[in-house]
Amino acid sequence: MTMDQNELKRIAAVRAADFVEDGMIVGLGTGSTVTYLVEAIAKRVQAEGLHITGVATSKRTGKQAKALGIPMKGIDEVPHVDLTIDGADEVDKNFQGIKGGGAAHAFEKIVATSSTKNIWIVDESKMVDTLGQFPLPLEVIPYGSTKVFDRLNNEGLKPVFRLDDNGDRVKTHSDNYVIDLHVGKIDHPHLLANWLISQVGLLEHGLFLDIVNTVVVGTQEGVKVLEA
Ligand code: A5P
Repeated sequence: MTMDQNELKRIAAVRAADFVEDGMIVGLGTGSTVTYLVEAIAKRVQAEGLHITGVATSKRTGKQAKALGIPMKGIDEVPHVDLTIDGADEVDKNFQGIKGGGAAHAFEKIVATSSTKNIWIVDESKMVDTLGQFPLPLEVIPYGSTKVFDRLNNEGLKPVFRLDDNGDRVKTHSDNYVIDLHVGKIDHPHLLANWLISQVGLLEHGLFLDIVNTVVVGTQEGVKVLEA
């Protein structure tokens, strides 16, 4: 029987929940795959009496985790994070990735880079040879954002302000805008990341490089745990 994309996300998330150990401070990512993860971790907390502390990367993850009984703290209230588990939009064979489809990439990167270990949970359609097919999200501060947009445009990076269903610009939790770059193929992710982060007004980009060394993939043949 063929599994649909949601089922592939779910089986990856459930497997990744096994990496959580008693006493850990656990970073919880954002997105539909993470929704399954939070459910699976909450079940373990209940069934096994695990004592963990969760750190959310978005309001929706925090709300879900709290509602399911996972004790939560803010990123600045914990000394460190032991393990962060998050979804991703694209992952290449070197475990470099694109995130930010849910506009949470700045918070996600702050939690990920505060974490001793990072795991991504994806369905197999997210595994790619070269990053860039998925539009690369940026978070830009509203002041001067047209200037940033023009600069990106002049570099041929095909920027588009992300809009919501009402046609308004999407805003992040920090009230910033999201610009998506439609580059098609990113041959040199480190070079692009370095250039982007040096642009004034550009707060964060969705290239997550050298952050993850375990990727849990939901495939039609079952769950695969890939280690770098
Ligand atoms: C949120 O900003 C993103 O980084 C998500 O982690 C990513 O878009 C994966 O989302 P899904 O699990 O919904 O595919």
